[in-house]
Amino acid sequence: MQGITKNDLIIRIGGEGGEGVISVGDFITQACARAGLDVYTFKTFPAEIKGGYAMYQVRASTERLYNQGDTFDVLCAFNGEAYNMNRASLKPGTTIVYDSPSDFTPDIPPGVHAYPIPMTQTAKEMNNLRAKNMVAMGALSVLFNIPVEALREVIVTKFSRKGEDVVKGNLAALERGRELAAALKKTDTWTLGTPKSKNEVIVMSGNNAIGLGALIAGLDFFSAYPITPATEVAIYVAKHLPKRGGTLIQAEDEIASISQVLGASYAGKKAMTSTSGPGLALMGEMLGMAFMAELPCVVVDVQRGGPSTGLPTKHEQSDLFMAVHGGHGDAGRIVLSVESIQDCIDLTVVAFNLAEKYQCPVLLLSDGSLAFSTQNVPYPDPANYKLVERERWNGEGEYQRYKFTESGISPMADPGTPGGLHIATGLEHNESGLPSYTSTNHEAMQDKRFRKLKNVVNDVDPTEVDGDGAADLGVIAWGSTIGVVREALQRLRAEGYKVKGFYPKLLNPLPAQQFEDFGASCKRLLLPEVNFQGQLAHFVRAETSLRPQSYTICGGMPFTPEMIVNKVKEILA
Ligand code: COA
Repeated sequence: MQGITKNDLIIRIGGEGGEGVISVGDFITQACARAGLDVYTFKTFPAEIKGGYAMYQVRASTERLYNQGDTFDVLCAFNGEAYNMNRASLKPGTTIVYDSPSDFTPDIPPGVHAYPIPMTQTAKEMNNLRAKNMVAMGALSVLFNIPVEALREVIVTKFSRKGEDVVKGNLAALERGRELAAALKKTDTWTLGTPKSKNEVIVMSGNNAIGLGALIAGLDFFSAYPITPATEVAIYVAKHLPKRGGTLIQAEDEIASISQVLGASYAGKKAMTSTSGPGLALMGEMLGMAFMAELPCVVVDVQRGGPSTGLPTKHEQSDLFMAVHGGHGDAGRIVLSVESIQDCIDLTVVAFNLAEKYQCPVLLLSDGSLAFSTQNVPYPDPANYKLVERERWNGEGEYQRYKFTESGISPMADPGTPGGLHIATGLEHNESGLPSYTSTNHEAMQDKRFRKLKNVVNDVDPTEVDGDGAADLGVIAWGSTIGVVREALQRLRAEGYKVKGFYPKLLNPLPAQQFEDFGASCKRLLLPEVNFQGQLAHFVRAETSLRPQSYTICGGMPFTPEMIVNKVKEILA
């Protein structure tokens, strides 16, 4: 069986929730990464536990990947729904591998390569219906050169906890799938590239990477209420934090979880919660208290489609307004957003460092796309991360918790510190922490609390500028949209376009001067984001002299590089 090696192959697996679509995607991803390929995955699954359309897309390449790609080269359809959902993307040259006989007979468009594989029937014959997905995976491994030894290893690793019979049954189904595919005549040109080198990597989802980052940062206490798509952060932390002597609580709701986090922070601990939009909305009042009482805390918001219960399992970048301004009164906070799996580790550490240094809430925005996407990253070495601890009172003189200082930062005293007794309250207070409602005190305290935030920009790496010199068009992007823009700009430059990118990670306080400097080098600006109102564009217009053109989508899916390329070409035409 022969094919033209493609150094960048995208395989999409679709089927019904419960059929093991996610497992196949995970296994192929792990196998490719183990073999030394770069991987980037994207998945969507139904809000239901069983039934509904589940999809897992694996992109594997010999080159560095930044996003999930445009569309698939290969579709593997477990059922009629998966075929119907993706039929429009079956363009000439693409390939479909599908279950046959089955509940559907695909009408293969001209130019599309098709491989019928009796997935269900074979699994039934083997008396192991559950292993239908392994028959499919075996077929895919032969057709597209997926490293089979690594696949076998992953099956053993992943299914061992289910028993030896399950492992054996699945290995047998994999081999049967391979035999079925080997008997077919390969007509398409796709096969996976051979990796240049094999590096020590770890494949992680965005949610797990945030959990890992928190552990590296020195997390002591974690409390959260489960909510899609953020729950996996808590699951990861639950596995590892207790082993290090830390505490994790599944709270009764989000108000309780943030309250517990603030209590732990008052007690001198590094504390964090994770949630999604509806949960962040509930935390509004306590975030105000964290600012008022100057309690360090990290709140991870894995954004999903909204408003209200919205689209729980779908992608959106629409909590920026709430992250920056959600709450009553003048309450400040720091807002960071992550671009990639690597960022999920690194910026979580930065979030803790900023919370500790500035004694205020730090919101870390991730999103539905990154939450479940997996990517290979180098093994992180905790020794490479600089950790910041809150400034603590040195025990000299009379302790004043909210003492006015030039920077606005006042030393903290852990409970039990001799002479350090103090009250942390949501009421306005004087330097000692006692309630005080005079106008001069409130103005001075607000000034102190906001004065702290002026220096934050100096503690975050300067915003990355992608490209040199003057540009006809500059693209500003945030969150996981950055990875899409990176690739789009590479393609546009290869075609001779003069384009640049600007990728802020600190979104509040907004590094306005950095935006201005970037804007000054571009004739026009475009700001793509996955929300209806153009939320970052709104802040850029409000806080700088720039007037970027908004490009917004909100269909529950991320941008693709092609969409950005087309938009830029349309503007520059
Ligand atoms: N042999 C044995 N077990 C297998 C198998 C095989 N060949 N293939 C898969 N499985 C197991 C998996 O290991 C997994 O078991 P686990 O739960 O013990 O880990 C289980 O079957 C599910 O398979 P998986 O591949 O992970 O998922 P799926 O593609 O079948 O999709 C879900 C199902 C899990 C994604 C899904 O429908 C779901 O969870 N929905 C949740 C939606 C949600 O979060 N809603 C929230 C609304 S607010």
